[in-house]
Amino acid sequence: MTQRVFVTRKIPQKGLDLITDLFKVSVWPSEFPPNKGEIVEGGGDCEGIITLLSDPIDAELIARLPNLVVIAQYAVGYDNIDINEATRRGIMVTNTPGVLTETTADLTWSLIMASARRVVEADRYVREGRWNVAWGPELLLGSDIYGATLGVIGMGRIGQAVVRRAQGFNMQVLYHTRSHNEDIAKLESIVPAKSASLDKLLSESDIVSLHVPLNSQTHELIGRRELEIMKKGSILVNTSRGQVIDQDALFDALSSGHLGGAGLDVFREEPLPRDSPLLGLQNVVLLPHIGSASRQTRTTMAIMCAKNLISALHGEKPPNIVNPEVL
Ligand code: DGY
Repeated sequence: MTQRVFVTRKIPQKGLDLITDLFKVSVWPSEFPPNKGEIVEGGGDCEGIITLLSDPIDAELIARLPNLVVIAQYAVGYDNIDINEATRRGIMVTNTPGVLTETTADLTWSLIMASARRVVEADRYVREGRWNVAWGPELLLGSDIYGATLGVIGMGRIGQAVVRRAQGFNMQVLYHTRSHNEDIAKLESIVPAKSASLDKLLSESDIVSLHVPLNSQTHELIGRRELEIMKKGSILVNTSRGQVIDQDALFDALSSGHLGGAGLDVFREEPLPRDSPLLGLQNVVLLPHIGSASRQTRTTMAIMCAKNLISALHGEKPPNIVNPEVL
């Protein structure tokens, strides 16, 4: 019998094309996420499901999808999925690592540069008709990126790609990571990067960028204490997950002027609520979780996600399985 697949949002066509001839595929038609009831209605009997990071795939939902063989996540992060429960039930979970590394590192740099040089604020200044004096010695002064110290927390693929780009800006790099490996050692021979404790990194960096996965150890890793340790006027950039920062403490650090600015692509709650106090601050650049959002990368992610799903439903080991212990 043809296996069934539920896709919780329309992903790029090249990915869907790979699976439509092989399986009975139904795609959730709205850009808004289906709720649990709608997932069960659309995919209650499915063997495969393609999920997004905004779909909470918890134990209760997994229990209501009794035929599930694979959850193929269209993202590298999978903190929205109860992996333990999936594993307990013998369900494979896959993700899309590697293909979005450079694109996300590029966006991280967009945020670093936009925050340090107040690019978005300056654009607003022009558009709002406030540019009245041709050139001002003290107009919209920002901070230098060239020669500054960059602190990178988390040295997985994306953290390393961000560090590589720092070379062109002649930066000193401090990094903090749980596990050292050969790739990091190689990078150290190209970029002046040194391992540091979290506190040293926070107190000495002009710009701090976060690249850790969200889990119980990284939840609010950057809290009030950590923000206080950061250098006055420094910049915090987050393209990982919003819950890695205590967002209320961040608001206080930005509004008091202790931090010079922040560049955020991710938030505790997404979409960012319309009444979020962050919206009232000038010194923060806010993006709608677009780290991997280039046409090429999103297509590559869709193909990778589809290939993972196909392998799993064909009884093979998917190339990007995150819980291989189920096999
Ligand atoms: C991911 O893949 O985890 C990003 O947050 C979105 O691409």
